[in-house]
Amino acid sequence: MEIQKGKYKIERHDLSNDKSLRPWSAADEYLLQSFSQIEHPPSNLCIYNDRFGFLACYLHSIEPRIILSQKSQEKAIRSNLKANRLPLLNFSDPLAALDRKMDFAILKVPKSLALFQLFLEQIVHNSSKNVTVICAFMTRHFSPKLVEIAAQYFEVTEQSKALKKARLLTLTKKRKTAKKILTTTLNYNDQDYQQYGGVFSGEHIDYATQYLLEHVQIKDTDKLVLDLASGNGVIGNEIYKQVPDAEIHLMDDAFLAVASAKLNVQGENIHHHFNNDFSIFKPDYFDLIVTNPPFHFEYEINIQIPIALFKQCRRCLKETGSFQLVANRHLNYRVHLEPLFSTVEVLAENDKFIVYSCSK
Ligand SMILES: C[S@@+](CC[C@H](N)C(=O)[O-])C[C@H]1O[C@@H](n2cnc3c(N)ncnc32)[C@H](O)[C@@H]1O
Repeated sequence: MEIQKGKYKIERHDLSNDKSLRPWSAADEYLLQSFSQIEHPPSNLCIYNDRFGFLACYLHSIEPRIILSQKSQEKAIRSNLKANRLPLLNFSDPLAALDRKMDFAILKVPKSLALFQLFLEQIVHNSSKNVTVICAFMTRHFSPKLVEIAAQYFEVTEQSKALKKARLLTLTKKRKTAKKILTTTLNYNDQDYQQYGGVFSGEHIDYATQYLLEHVQIKDTDKLVLDLASGNGVIGNEIYKQVPDAEIHLMDDAFLAVASAKLNVQGENIHHHFNNDFSIFKPDYFDLIVTNPPFHFEYEINIQIPIALFKQCRRCLKETGSFQLVANRHLNYRVHLEPLFSTVEVLAENDKFIVYSCSK
């Protein structure tokens, strides 16, 4: 098969400018190598969790369908295809019913096994009888649960030897399974919140989020509000309950987070955005921006991304507006907030978390 032809330059294209972070891993390389050894190219390949487009670029000639989990992933893949002068590919999301059945899938195993299961759920219900799935992961991230989940969907689950500390799990002979809707429900403040597999804090409200909601300061005059990095929408919804006539925007980079928030927060003045930056918002727009900002990205910790988001918050906040966030103490966000905002006030703190309120 004609893959790995030529060399491609793959960049991360995320909000961080840390050049030491790699846009692919040995698990991606192992996937590619193993895929290049199959005899006949599949007619409909789907690629899951290709974070920055390494697999999309190297396999573009067989026109794979890319299943996108994040907006930042879509932007990175588009940019890398363009920079390497490759044609655009077909994109879908992990909840879509696919118009063509796949006969092969390759999958970088995500950190969240609930998300892994959601991917397998889509694969078995949108594939031909003889579909093969190759999953790749770094050996240090292996958990027996991974094989247990795979065995619910496939009769044969074969693990490879390790190569450069990466390993493959090949799945064949799919089982007939009834369609499951893979959401969990958590209760906060007498309300149930549903969320799809892989969305932040699936079992109970996150403790930092709870601390933020206990101390956030909302005024009746906060009519233009943003729940940044909204996850299942719990923050936006709690604000909506207090100021029901406010225009509330909820934005998240994860497709399934936005899909979950849409299940939980609805109303005429509610606006959901599947996006990872503020390019869609006008400057000086919001009265209030509230967030429990991301700093874990799969197995990476990266505070450059929240810092980039803080800068964008500043731009889109009104002169009279307030930006309120919760942070783990050890992250010491004050150092990054003070150069951006004229006041950075502590609304509450305990031994784990700090809630800040910032204004321009
Ligand atoms: C700490 S969680 C908070 C989720 C939710 N607000 C809560 O409190 O349960 C952070 C969220 O940020 C999202 N995220 C990551 N990068 C983002 C970005 N650049 N823009 C918007 N959301 C992002 C993640 O998908 C995740 O849902």
